[in-house]
Amino acid sequence: MATAWFPIGVIVLAICILDGGALDTFKAAVYEHAVILPNRTETPVSQKDALMLMNKNLDVLEKAIKLAAKQGADIIVTPGDGVYGWVFTRETIYPYLEDIPDPQENWIPCTEAQRFGHTPVQERLSCLARENSIYVVANIGDKKECGANDPTCPPDGRYQYNTNVVFDSEGKLVARYHKYNLFAPEVQFNFPKDSPYVTFDTPFGKFGIFTCFDIFSYEPAAAVVDKFQVDSILYPTAWYNTLPLLSAVPFHSAWARAMRINLLSANTHNTSMHMTGSGIYAPEAVKVYHYDMETESGQLLLSELKIRPRLSSDYPAVVDWSSYAKSAKPFISNQPKFHGSIYFDEFTFIELTKETGNYTICQKELCCHLTYKMSEKRTDEVYALGAFDGLHTVEGQYYLQICTLLKCQTTDLKTCGEPVGSAFTRFEEFSLSGTFNTRYVFPQLVLSGTQLAREQHYEVSNDGRLKSRSGVSLPVLVMALYGRVFEKDPHRLGQSDHP
Ligand SMILES: *[C@@H]1O[C@H](CO)[C@@H](O)[C@H](O)[C@H]1NC(C)=O
Ligand SMILES: *[C@@H]1O[C@H](CO)[C@@H](O)[C@H](O)[C@H]1NC(C)=O
Ligand SMILES: *[C@@H]1O[C@H](CO)[C@@H](O)[C@H](O)[C@H]1NC(C)=O
Repeated sequence: MATAWFPIGVIVLAICILDGGALDTFKAAVYEHAVILPNRTETPVSQKDALMLMNKNLDVLEKAIKLAAKQGADIIVTPGDGVYGWVFTRETIYPYLEDIPDPQENWIPCTEAQRFGHTPVQERLSCLARENSIYVVANIGDKKECGANDPTCPPDGRYQYNTNVVFDSEGKLVARYHKYNLFAPEVQFNFPKDSPYVTFDTPFGKFGIFTCFDIFSYEPAAAVVDKFQVDSILYPTAWYNTLPLLSAVPFHSAWARAMRINLLSANTHNTSMHMTGSGIYAPEAVKVYHYDMETESGQLLLSELKIRPRLSSDYPAVVDWSSYAKSAKPFISNQPKFHGSIYFDEFTFIELTKETGNYTICQKELCCHLTYKMSEKRTDEVYALGAFDGLHTVEGQYYLQICTLLKCQTTDLKTCGEPVGSAFTRFEEFSLSGTFNTRYVFPQLVLSGTQLAREQHYEVSNDGRLKSRSGVSLPVLVMALYGRVFEKDPHRLGQSDHP
């Protein structure tokens, strides 16, 4: 009998070797913070008043950092604009800015407070990291003086940058990232000239970092994953949800899944601005997320993540997003097509008129196929299949290819694409695919009550189909394959504003 055990022992050993290192985990934390905003003002406040406001926010972040550390977190991410908010002009943000040096200076602000001038915010963040032995990630503002010898120096003699900083568990500044893709209304900041790629190594894996609107771009967001093989991305954001396709949790978790990395996403919290939705996302699963339109409170999230997800046996395979759709025969329908807009993009739609069916809808080079079965065709709810292939041009320019199945706001087809919160129709089967010309496709599925569908509800097959799992019955609000065609983007998002 002893010999019979031998092969099993070998198999167990082989699995252990294969999984070596991948079983190691770290504890990640993100904090969704309800930022205390300064009063709107035309004239800049004093540096003292600016610091007072920032310290109020840092008081709240301090509690979250201590709580996270106490629960064993190795790193905590705090939100975009999390220290001073977003209601600024170029002049009124100035008193909030600090000179943030290059991390190569090996600076621990907590122990060398005066080395780079007056930097109380960096000092406080550094001390919080050091005293609690935790990496701290924050989004603050950098200022860099410039002069006549610099032909691109702004007239007021300084550059101002939206900046992510990382302090390690000894309080040392280990990363400084200047936001590369400013959102159109961010007039208070300059586009940086330095490299958009910021990565750093830690005992718990290799990290990349960017912020908010960057996630739509190739540089640095997708490129830092492709070129530097990072394990995890740190993502402070100040994201306002615009349904149906751009809600923080579905979009960010889809990004982590498609890019096959860990993503630590900390959003600002402000319900009247529709800002909520933070999470810790692994390539194979949504670990934890928070979405709250009911209260004005912050929320700490914690989860274990793999240090090296790529070495794990459950690391998702590469998806060939157009493989199925390009080989499938289009379904012909003589039903009328119609147009509707989603976030200013004009989609071509077709209505789902029966309980079960097959449709193909095309726009330019993109054809989207859908096979579905509802539990019943209700008369009070209308669903449509839509396709968009074009350049998005509002608040930034980026090229999209999108296939989506969504519930229309009312039974009037003119409302297809407008936000809607609940659905009673249940889908028992579905398969959505598209003839994408890109390998960057982000799959999302949102259910009634703006609930995120989980891994057990659906799958993404290697040939690019977003498919139901058997035995489910889902009140679908919207499902989408959101493709980004980076090659067709204008040279750089917001380039025209570059000094
Ligand atoms: C904003 O203005 C009000 C009224 O003047 C004042 O009570 C409040 O403290 C101010 N808030 C901040 C953050 O300065
Ligand atoms: C949310 O943001 C808006 C717009 O900036 C602001 O007027 C409002 O006071 C904020 N809400 C809270 C609770 O801070
Ligand atoms: C949809 O297409 C599949 C095969 O592609 C077929 O088996 C099925 O009968 C079709 N359903 C309808 C309602 O046309």
